[in-house]
Amino acid sequence: MTLRIHLWSGPRNVSTALMYAFAQRADTRVVDEPLYAHYLRVSGAVHPGRDAVLQAQENDGRRVVREQLFAPCDRPVQFVKQMAHHLVDLDRGFLRDCANVILTRDPRDMLPSLVNQVPEPTLRDAAYAVQTQLYRELRARNQPVVVLDARELLVDPRGVLAQLCARLGIPFDEAMLSWKSGPRPEDGVWAPHWYHSVHRSTGFERHEPKSAPFPARLEALYAECQPHYEELAASALRARTRLSDPRNEHIWVHVGGKLVPRAEAKVSVFDSSVQGGDACWEGLRVYDGRVFALDAHLERLESSAKALAFESCPSRDAIRRALFETLERNSMRDQAHVRLTLTRGEKLTSGMTPRNNVFGPCLIVLAEWKAPVFGTRMLELVTSSWRRNPPMCVDSKIHHNNLINNILAKIEADNAGVDDAVMLDIEGYVSETNATNLFLVRHGEVQTPFADHCLPGITRGVVLGLCAANAIPCRERRLSLTEFYAADEVFTTGTMGELAPVRAIDRRRIGDGTVGATTRRLQALFTDLTRREGTPLPF
Ligand SMILES: Cc1ncc(COP(=O)(O)O)c(C=O)c1O
Repeated sequence: MTLRIHLWSGPRNVSTALMYAFAQRADTRVVDEPLYAHYLRVSGAVHPGRDAVLQAQENDGRRVVREQLFAPCDRPVQFVKQMAHHLVDLDRGFLRDCANVILTRDPRDMLPSLVNQVPEPTLRDAAYAVQTQLYRELRARNQPVVVLDARELLVDPRGVLAQLCARLGIPFDEAMLSWKSGPRPEDGVWAPHWYHSVHRSTGFERHEPKSAPFPARLEALYAECQPHYEELAASALRARTRLSDPRNEHIWVHVGGKLVPRAEAKVSVFDSSVQGGDACWEGLRVYDGRVFALDAHLERLESSAKALAFESCPSRDAIRRALFETLERNSMRDQAHVRLTLTRGEKLTSGMTPRNNVFGPCLIVLAEWKAPVFGTRMLELVTSSWRRNPPMCVDSKIHHNNLINNILAKIEADNAGVDDAVMLDIEGYVSETNATNLFLVRHGEVQTPFADHCLPGITRGVVLGLCAANAIPCRERRLSLTEFYAADEVFTTGTMGELAPVRAIDRRRIGDGTVGATTRRLQALFTDLTRREGTPLPF
């Protein structure tokens, strides 16, 4: 059976380059915008080369769907490049038989390019609204849909295409990354008007942020497009650049008492973290010359190590010294995240018993340049089928490296194309996400689950303190998923991503889907605290 991939793109979204990439695959036939003439006829839109398109293609979209889209194909994969806005006046039932991919692009990048072909573009020409509508429709039908963001694709073509192929169930082919310059036989007759730059290309062009100022006359249209783009971008496949910040190529890492360059930063195959995930850890953040909540993190590390019965642990002062040395060696005074790991250390021989650990624990201080991971994005979550560990299994209060429980949940989030997974406790109440604590706001009151089945996060504690200090009603209680669905606001907390607002859980939109007033207030209070508090760096 032929796999029919339909790419529902907006205009100027590198969709032709993506078609060229698929055209390089030996198993694939590509088709260029078979519904273009149908769209021009129905909409009356004035596009360059309109008459030639109407002459070259079947004008009746229903016939195109009936007679062309599912015609026998001589290859196992058919890739059909489509513009989302061409999907007018058509029964969309045929989408059930296609693998649907939506390709979008930041309107700040797209609109200035669109005006070269369509001087007075409207929201319809820009296609964002049709794309979100299509996305919601497919999700509501429980039909898989993959979202691509042109920027992510250009930043990391190999990584994003590999993820796309995996989602489509076909092998990734290196050949997709380059092609010969010039036109292709599959190009539509409109190519001379639209394909100048793709014809000059021989692969995906590097993503360059636009330097020209955004035209003021497009601001109103931009404001219309942006919410649609944001909704789509939230679930787009992300670039897997080797490093998001190239400065991290050359960092120094503290391992087992020595500062070494990144490439040499290793533990033994006999280390307990390798053998059994037998280690504990902390994530810390450095803000403008201060380490935030350092003492609280050191205390939690110590408690975890004690619960795991580690012997001969380094003192808090020794850990502080290693941390400061690492940050100084890397000249990191701001925008840095530190992963502090204490393993039970190297074993004499492989085996479970800590009696084989005769060398004492091994401290790792890994500091990286890393801004809060979610930026200003709103998150989407799904509920995981894996339950967070209750104290009678592995107590979640131990911040240990045996993260399989959380990783299995994260895999479900990745498979669903969302940011993280909500984890329930053994009785079905909400505990936290796979990586952060969860809060809701209902009628102005902030609520969070008791820290019984979740990590008592430091950020969580700070937020509870901020509420108390600022007369924001707040309590810890058992909370069910229903209460999260019905909340006015939901946000996550953690050192990695600070306070991150949640747009949807299990496809239930939270509140009106925008960042709520209490979340904003707490974010501001938290930012203010990080500017004022923290242990000053001694360099
Ligand atoms: C499972 C889990 N929950 C919550 C958090 C957030 O904790 P914190 O605020 O201390 O970073 C983390 C951070 O490591 C975590 O791993």
